[in-house]
Amino acid sequence: MLNDKARIAVLVSGGGTNLQALIDAQASGVLKSGEIVFVVSNKPDAYALQRARRAGIETTVITGSRTTFESALISTLDRHEIDVIILAGFMKILSADVVSHYPGRIINVHPALIPSFCGEGFYGLKVHEAALARGVKVTGATVHIVNEIADGGPILLQKAVEVYPDDTPETLQKRVMEKAEWILLPRAAEMLSKQIVLEKEKQYD
Ligand code: GAR
Repeated sequence: MLNDKARIAVLVSGGGTNLQALIDAQASGVLKSGEIVFVVSNKPDAYALQRARRAGIETTVITGSRTTFESALISTLDRHEIDVIILAGFMKILSADVVSHYPGRIINVHPALIPSFCGEGFYGLKVHEAALARGVKVTGATVHIVNEIADGGPILLQKAVEVYPDDTPETLQKRVMEKAEWILLPRAAEMLSKQIVLEKEKQYD
């Protein structure tokens, strides 16, 4: 039996609180079948990069047009022999080229209960603004497998979060992160990593 962990790359664009939840989950043992080996940002000033460096994780910044970005991304991920790709507050939509290169191996956390408030244009605070504007009483977070449709892949985990009458987009975002995203994303990372480790073990049996 092999003792290898799944090799995880995390893609980020901003503050990186979801990346932090993954780093903490690795330290606490919630994430045990995978190891975060690489963090990629499309924003040079993303605070998430500092979080990664503090945890001793290798980082890189890739910018440029979609084609330039994606070809550099694929070659970097391949060079690092990445098994699992986690989109943790990554604000770009990946094209079918990237998705088909890693079928079933990319997961994303979205700050709403898909199929509500999702798809192109729904990211970050905009999702919570839309939820409040519609007057929903319950929202939440979803972790899903990424396919070629924005926020359209199979759902792995969801958790509902109550909306309060006096919520602002910022207070709602914070509650959804604390009560749903930071819990679901590490769990989903462990689920997919475990599946990959088992698949690898079967190959070597
Ligand atoms: C999170 O709420 C994440 O779910 C959302 O952006 C925030 C990033 O925060 N992602 C999307 O909207 C993607 N469609 P973080 O950088 O602190 O993890």
